[in-house]
Amino acid sequence: MSVRHFLTLKDCTADELQLILQWGIELKAELKNKGHHGDPLKNRSLAMIFEKASTRTRLSFEIAMTQLGGHALFLSPRDTQLGRGEPIEDSARVISRMADAIMIRTFGHHVVETFAAHSQAPVINALTDDYHPCQLLADMQTWYEHRGPMAGKTVAWIGDGNNMCNSYINAAMQYDFHLRIACPEGFEPKAELLAQAGERVELVRDAAAAARDADLVVTDVWASMGQEDEQASRREKFLPFQVNSHVMAQARPDALFMHCLPAHRGEEVTAEVIDGPQSVVWDEAENRLHAQKALLLFLLHR
Ligand code: CP
Ligand code: NVA
Repeated sequence: MSVRHFLTLKDCTADELQLILQWGIELKAELKNKGHHGDPLKNRSLAMIFEKASTRTRLSFEIAMTQLGGHALFLSPRDTQLGRGEPIEDSARVISRMADAIMIRTFGHHVVETFAAHSQAPVINALTDDYHPCQLLADMQTWYEHRGPMAGKTVAWIGDGNNMCNSYINAAMQYDFHLRIACPEGFEPKAELLAQAGERVELVRDAAAAARDADLVVTDVWASMGQEDEQASRREKFLPFQVNSHVMAQARPDALFMHCLPAHRGEEVTAEVIDGPQSVVWDEAENRLHAQKALLLFLLHR
């Protein structure tokens, strides 16, 4: 069987993503009810390459492997030859001859593509400058758990057209919902994704208009990892795109609020919203663990 990678949501079919979502829900219940999963990944190893910081992603993958009976290794560029310039192709060939799967968080998306092209083990994108598909697995599971099927519903993405926004466009196509994006001029998501999504995704310039009658409102930081120098200059342009109670009031009364975290209260979201009754950010963070266990089993246990 040929090796499967997970670099974007498009590496799975819509049916496979539904399966992963259901498994995520079942694994969550199994952990709570039985306390273990019977070690389906015994003796299997996940190499985790982090070229950017992480709390949720590292914890969730490492704990997922432990709870599935396997092992995870944290590799930072500071301590590996990757950081000293060993080619990605060579690193992929070597690491994938030993590890059963490789998870990578890095800058350029081409890094995970190159790695995957030379890897004999599944490669998982744990965030690049362009995409964050693992977060979407958790977001979709969270949304489903709270509100049921997402087909035909409306999501408002408010803020930067960044890696999360690009992944929401892919999600709109794969999970069959309508997406309204409100971002400042010059901070749009990938043009080719917008073109592929067609009428399913709408670009607007007003946060309140994007949120109107939405079932889910989502935002993310105004400056992502690697853009720290732009933090101050972006503030003024992004202030009209803050998710606050006025914006949430435009959405449906039962609308949920999500944020992949870490969040900057008082910037992209007010404390009132993220700490308020419509926010499901803690379930969303927890679901990284359950959704990624489902992904690991999908890639490794077939
Ligand atoms: N949401 C997310 O990926 O968080 P970390 O950067 O902490 O991994
Ligand atoms: N867009 C953010 C997401 C962090 C999980 C970043 O790339 O820094």
